[in-house]
Amino acid sequence: MNKKPKHVAIIMDGNGRWAQKHGKKRFLGHKKGAKVVKEIVEEATKNEIEFLTLFAFSTDNWSRPKDEVNLLMKLLVGSLKNEFKRIIDNNIRLCSIGNLDTLPDLVKDELMFVVEKTKTNSGMVLTLALNYGGKEEIVNALKSISNKVKNSIISPQDVDEFTLIEHLYSKNLPPVDLLIRTSGEERISNFLLWHIAYAELYFTRTLWPDFNKKDLEKALLNYSKRERRFGKTREQLDV
Ligand code: IPE
Ligand code: IPE
Ligand code: MG
Repeated sequence: MNKKPKHVAIIMDGNGRWAQKHGKKRFLGHKKGAKVVKEIVEEATKNEIEFLTLFAFSTDNWSRPKDEVNLLMKLLVGSLKNEFKRIIDNNIRLCSIGNLDTLPDLVKDELMFVVEKTKTNSGMVLTLALNYGGKEEIVNALKSISNKVKNSIISPQDVDEFTLIEHLYSKNLPPVDLLIRTSGEERISNFLLWHIAYAELYFTRTLWPDFNKKDLEKALLNYSKRERRFGKTREQLDV
């Protein structure tokens, strides 16, 4: 494959519908979804994807029934514990984006533990978007910049694209090259608004718990055939 995305982001959607389709409780859809995460992380590593960012829990997901939210948090802690060794063995660096302050302590502690233990790993950067909202991320960045302007740390004329990027949760991430959303929904749902400015979008009807490495390969192949012009003409790309 000649064109490989450096940064792949995934909106892992459809766990609930998968459960419904199989006459199971929503939670079992999430459980199966967590297993798929394992497989896709492994496959992304094999494909030498440098950055993989997964939407695990949005700021709007707090509006779900309390039981579902609690179970999702428990599942997350369990997955971090179970996958720790594999993450280390695969030289993966775990990062997170989103507001960690309002996450349950158990989740925060486990997450920070793995982030700390893997911070010098040089393999794939796996970023979990947790309690993440794209609009909130930009608003928070603007607040920090405004404060710096007010305190004369930055002058207003110097505020540019890079100033904003430096104040985002996702400041260490490159732009998204390929954004995948499963389940047939064709929307962004407030994910990575800034970093998807020129992302190639790939929507599949496959529900996340059914998504497998072949589906990832298919998305990567589809990406490799796209022509990214970034505002230029096709002729300019040939030069
Ligand atoms: C995605 O699956 C998982 C999370 C948002 C945490 P959903 O739970 O949104 O599944 P559907 O959309 O109800 O099928
Ligand atoms: C987006 O999925 C969030 C995650 C995958 C974590 P949702 O299921 O919450 O999005 P909407 O509500 O369908 O837009
Ligand atoms: Mg959904």
